[in-house]
Amino acid sequence: MKEIYSIAVDGPSGAGKSSLARRCASAFGFIYVDTGAIYRCVGLAAYRKGIDRKDAGAVSAMLPELEIKIAYDDKGEQRMYLNGEDVSREIREPHISLCASDVSAIPQVRAFLLEMQRKMAEENSVIMDGRDIGTVVLPNAQLKIFLTASPEARAERRMLELKEKGVEQSFEEVLEEINQRDRKDSCRETAPLREAEDAIHVDTSKISFEESFEVLCGIIEQKLHIKRLEKRK
Ligand code: DC
Repeated sequence: MKEIYSIAVDGPSGAGKSSLARRCASAFGFIYVDTGAIYRCVGLAAYRKGIDRKDAGAVSAMLPELEIKIAYDDKGEQRMYLNGEDVSREIREPHISLCASDVSAIPQVRAFLLEMQRKMAEENSVIMDGRDIGTVVLPNAQLKIFLTASPEARAERRMLELKEKGVEQSFEEVLEEINQRDRKDSCRETAPLREAEDAIHVDTSKISFEESFEVLCGIIEQKLHIKRLEKRK
């Protein structure tokens, strides 16, 4: 039987988790799961309904009405569906980032999304990125990576990423948003962002995307004793 591997990639927003995890997943033939996108769907649903995203009762009451689905298009890109509607683009809007951060602090929301995330890892070899993958969602992952970078380096990258998507924001605005989200994500009571004890810490502040990719691939090859697809022949 083919072995199923789970790699957990956690870290603060803007550390390059999603682009690096996506690229590594494709290099090793794994499925990439961006769990932030699932929280963003809940944030978007709360926003559209106009409910107070910090009100645990109101947000929890809305959960049974939500059908969130993850699908992959023919390029292997993750698409998110909220009650049948493709919301992949809308969930990336900056105001939805804050909504996602608010609803993700609600224990009922985390419990609601937990099984969905675990099921993906039961059925496929995955590289899953988020905040609590190594500590809560997949505590038995064969490999845990904690990916981080300084707030300034993360703001710089986020700004370029947003620009490519046609969203203009100043460096100061992006930095403030990153600091605000870091505070919220790290200080909350439920599943705060924290490094698993057995995680490998990788700081990408001073290295390029390509260098970070090589570092991660090296760790994966060494720890899981597997090779990249193009090196397998
Ligand atoms: O990774 P992201 O920026 O798309 O995540 C959006 C928000 O969701 C972020 O503020 C923290 C939250 N989140 C979380 O609490 N747990 C996860 N596993 C993933 C994201």
